[in-house]
Amino acid sequence: MPITDAKFIQDFIRLTDDAFKKGWHERNGGNLSYRIKNDEINKILPELKSATNWQPIGTEVPNIAGEYFLVTGSGKYMRNVILCPADNIAIIKIDDKGKNYSIIWGLEHGGVPTSELPTHLMNHGIKKTVTNDKNRVIYHAHPVNAIALTFILPLDSKTFTHELWEMMTEVPVIFPEGIGVIPWMVPGGKAIADITGKLMKKYNAVIWAHHGTFCAGNNFDEAFGFMDTIEKASEISVKVHSMGGKKQTISNQNFCDLAEAFKIHLNENFLS
Ligand code: 13P
Ligand code: ZN
Repeated sequence: MPITDAKFIQDFIRLTDDAFKKGWHERNGGNLSYRIKNDEINKILPELKSATNWQPIGTEVPNIAGEYFLVTGSGKYMRNVILCPADNIAIIKIDDKGKNYSIIWGLEHGGVPTSELPTHLMNHGIKKTVTNDKNRVIYHAHPVNAIALTFILPLDSKTFTHELWEMMTEVPVIFPEGIGVIPWMVPGGKAIADITGKLMKKYNAVIWAHHGTFCAGNNFDEAFGFMDTIEKASEISVKVHSMGGKKQTISNQNFCDLAEAFKIHLNENFLS
């Protein structure tokens, strides 16, 4: 069986293709990573290269030391992953200190993992702990309307969470803990990874001002669904602002009634 027939690789490819078609991935914009399960890697390990040529991650991720990840390549286009996975994505192994990675499959005509590898791996490490090993997917996209809102709303988690909660009744059910926001920062390094990681302890999504969004999910459906929900709610917000603003909205009491009916705990810091 070709390696790319493995279910987790097929699921990864499906997300990249769906997400490109959503318009969230201009050129090489965005990136995706998956923390591979033991049984999944064991099935294909004999076909993979051995780990050599270790490269620095750019940060330290000790609690995912020794694990394997499927990641998109830096500068590679989401729309091309489905055409030739072996050229555009890679399986990497993390060393036993959590400081270096080695490519053991993929990027066949050259390349390196996404420039956002520090943020991806840091978030994997944090989410592995806080979800008791359940979280597997970290996903970064450049969705138009979520980015547009970062030019007009104050850049804080309360404002963004409340605005997106108001835009569709299901949003607070999907993000009861809220959504994180960080101001503009230089992408691709340890500093933005550290700040994003701190917020990922509390949230499943973090918006990077004037850049894009990071989502974490237990599986591909969940990570994609989080991105889709944020972007759809953002689109409604952009439309409401463009039509002259809200004339009525969901009230605090409505949110509390919703929380009771759906048996969710809404983060009360984000009520108005
Ligand atoms: P990469 O091509 O290195 O994944 O970078 C794309 C991106 O969106 C950076 O934030
Ligand atoms: Zn980006």
